[in-house]
Amino acid sequence: MVETLHIPQDASKEDLYKSLVVQIVALIEHENNLIANLANIAAVLDMTFGHLWTGFYLEDGDNLVLGPFQGPLACTRIPVKPVPRGVCGAAAAEQKTMLVPDVDKFGGHIACSSASRSEIVVPLIDNSGKTRLVLDIDSSELNSFNEIDQLYCEQIIQMIKDRHY
Ligand code: SME
Repeated sequence: MVETLHIPQDASKEDLYKSLVVQIVALIEHENNLIANLANIAAVLDMTFGHLWTGFYLEDGDNLVLGPFQGPLACTRIPVKPVPRGVCGAAAAEQKTMLVPDVDKFGGHIACSSASRSEIVVPLIDNSGKTRLVLDIDSSELNSFNEIDQLYCEQIIQMIKDRHY
């Protein structure tokens, strides 16, 4: 198991992700436990980018329930059915990545932390079409995420899917 993370200095966002993706493969390829792998993925994303909150919510019936994360205290449960709440609930229900440049302009955003200003949420859909979890990254700045984050966060979700679902 890999125990140190190599973070290239002065690298672009894309180069940081490229380096990260290779290291995540090495990190999860020999471990079968989903929670352990999600915990380390949250840690390496946080160590690389240092956003306000980085973590996972897992499907639990009609809700999402808090999974492994790095950052401040978070909401424990987020409804998905019958009415999705927040960006996480919307991503889980609509089964698509949500890029939110300004959370105050997103109707129904859940203010787990008043410091959160922008976010990206990427759902993992299994082969039967069910949402199994979401990756949620929150930033204390506006406009922190773009299509590069979307591309690589979706790649990371695909790696988790290939490994565990
Ligand atoms: N921002 C999320 C809620 C979870 S946290 O902030 C950790 C949302 O609106 O879905």
